[in-house]
Amino acid sequence: EHKESYAAWLQYKNIDDQTLVNNYKQWCGRISILGASVVIESAKKELLLGISSMLGIEPDCSSEPMQASLVLATNASIVDLVDVDFDQLNDDGYVIKTVTSGGKNTIFLVGKNDSGVLYAAFHLLRLMQNRKNLQQLDILENPKNQLRMLNQWDNMDGSIERGYAGNSIFYKENEFSDELNRIEDYARLLSSVGINGIAINNVNVHKVETDLITSRLLPKVAEVAGIFRAYGITTFLSVNYASTITIGNLSTADPLDPKVRQWWKDKAEEIYSYIPDFGGFLVKADSEHRPGPFTYGRNHADGANMLAEALQPFNGVVLWRCFVYNCLQDWRDRTTDRARAAYDHFKPLDGHFHDNVILQIKNGPMDFQVREGVSPLFGAMENTNQMLEFQVTQEYTGQQRHLCYLVPQWKEVLDFDTFAKGKGSEVKKVVDGSLFQYKYSGITAVSNIGNDYNWTGHTLAQANLYGFGRLTWNPDLSAETITDEWIGQTFGHDELVKELVTKMLLKSWSIYEKYTSPLGVGWMVNPHHHYGPNVDGYEYDVWGTYHFADWKGIGVDRTEKTGTGYTSQYFKENTDLYEDLKTCPDELLLFFHNVPYTHKLKSNVTVIQHIYNTHFEGVEEAEGLVETWSQLKEKIDQERFEDILKRLQEQANHSKEWRDIINTYFYRKSGIKDEKNRKIY
Ligand code: GCU
Repeated sequence: EHKESYAAWLQYKNIDDQTLVNNYKQWCGRISILGASVVIESAKKELLLGISSMLGIEPDCSSEPMQASLVLATNASIVDLVDVDFDQLNDDGYVIKTVTSGGKNTIFLVGKNDSGVLYAAFHLLRLMQNRKNLQQLDILENPKNQLRMLNQWDNMDGSIERGYAGNSIFYKENEFSDELNRIEDYARLLSSVGINGIAINNVNVHKVETDLITSRLLPKVAEVAGIFRAYGITTFLSVNYASTITIGNLSTADPLDPKVRQWWKDKAEEIYSYIPDFGGFLVKADSEHRPGPFTYGRNHADGANMLAEALQPFNGVVLWRCFVYNCLQDWRDRTTDRARAAYDHFKPLDGHFHDNVILQIKNGPMDFQVREGVSPLFGAMENTNQMLEFQVTQEYTGQQRHLCYLVPQWKEVLDFDTFAKGKGSEVKKVVDGSLFQYKYSGITAVSNIGNDYNWTGHTLAQANLYGFGRLTWNPDLSAETITDEWIGQTFGHDELVKELVTKMLLKSWSIYEKYTSPLGVGWMVNPHHHYGPNVDGYEYDVWGTYHFADWKGIGVDRTEKTGTGYTSQYFKENTDLYEDLKTCPDELLLFFHNVPYTHKLKSNVTVIQHIYNTHFEGVEEAEGLVETWSQLKEKIDQERFEDILKRLQEQANHSKEWRDIINTYFYRKSGIKDEKNRKIY
């Protein structure tokens, strides 16, 4: 049971087109594997699984390449069998090549290293799942990003912070889970889309989790790391900045104290004795009441460097988060602006971090809202490694009860031009390390999976995990390509299924945005759990999350001229764009400006009328999703069809609550009627 839901995009469904099966069989009948390692073993296992279930054959395996139709090899093992220019490949790169010689056809899957072989195997299986021709393959792939990571916000009691798909697959009742198969299946999913790093516990490191770096739990961490290692994935841990106090018997966590520094050095040595290829530490410090260097009058470079120094002998890295802001604000204080905080804290420290520290920066300056500006910190630190943090788990985008496909949003962020080195300085070039030649960089995200049978609660939310991985590998892939691949592998190749599911996914972000908070202003959600509408839920709270709606207008003035000055944190081209009401894009208007309800947008409607219109449209379109999906009843297995239908119905209903609460709020604030006289409560 739950077979399809569980398999996600690794369905390997039996192919019923016999011509195609026969064609594929000539390539897949005899496999030769050169080289041996746990990673190569995973490649072999996956190929055998995929081939037997798609083609119904059990291929011969040998180490004799001359007879084989499919050869797996690395730079080290391939002597002269095929012409590959290894200089063109980076560490995880690979080549897939069809070679015809002497009437014999062979496909070579050649990685620079073992990981490349595994990625090549997944690539071949993806081609077959998408019914591609294998006749003349000549593929060369290099991941654009060096670090392609996920962060699990899992706690050891089994709960997941902001998790919407059940409990942790890693932990249960303060112990490690013994269902290691599930972790391995997760590793397969991640590796198939190119993920190569994972931090396995919540960035908020509570009491039990602080022990993950002690001898009590390290053997278990090592066991999990072993599972991931076989899929080319490096394991990281989130650590408690104050570990020296909590578990180290010291009275301080002052990063300049020699005893503290020595403790971390010894600790690193101990960790590496269990896990020789341990990735390093992920750290949330001085953020939302977590401990950090500020307590000792030190700055973030002091804190991060202390850990970096400890990890350096083992090639470990520190992923230091920039989500640092004042979370005890007063709404009356109009000078403090949470959006400014990361830049204000970190920009002055450029060049002060060791070269094995990477600053991990959320895509926006606030917190994963459905729409916000891009963090101005990207590109602003020429001499400090940076990586980008997305949120795959849908905390503010419907919590996997609503459909919200985030690939189009992520594409916008990656393609955003920072102008750091003039035109063409997109975020993707900052975080792939090419703009400033960073030593380490990449993309990470908060995962959206749990132990629900379908991993992600909403089955269509699997597409977000898939798309995230694919974008970390290659940010230039289009949303359409990624979507098409995912649907083919998840639901097959029926034309109508492809057409309708593509439409649903690609429109879903815009639909969600329409019935929730308008024009980039954000928030307006119920406090704490963040689900459902509550316009003033965070308005008089301490978190710095205001929209400032009153009877005159709405929006946050973040201009240099009259506001918080946040706009000046961007490079000039973007400062100018956002500063001026005339050029500021409509969708971010209220993120940057406070305007009267009668202000005319570029779309030529007033702000108030825009709010009404989009909220009515959003509900209609959410109802449209139900109708569209319903047309596929005969074409999708019953379980997934019903599951998804239920979620879409809940979304359509809930979108009405959003519409009515938002519309009535602004009607009562502004006193302005809907031009179209629709029902506003
Ligand atoms: C959000 C989220 C928290 C999380 C925090 C973070 O604010 O609501 O649960 O801890 O981000 O990224 O650290």
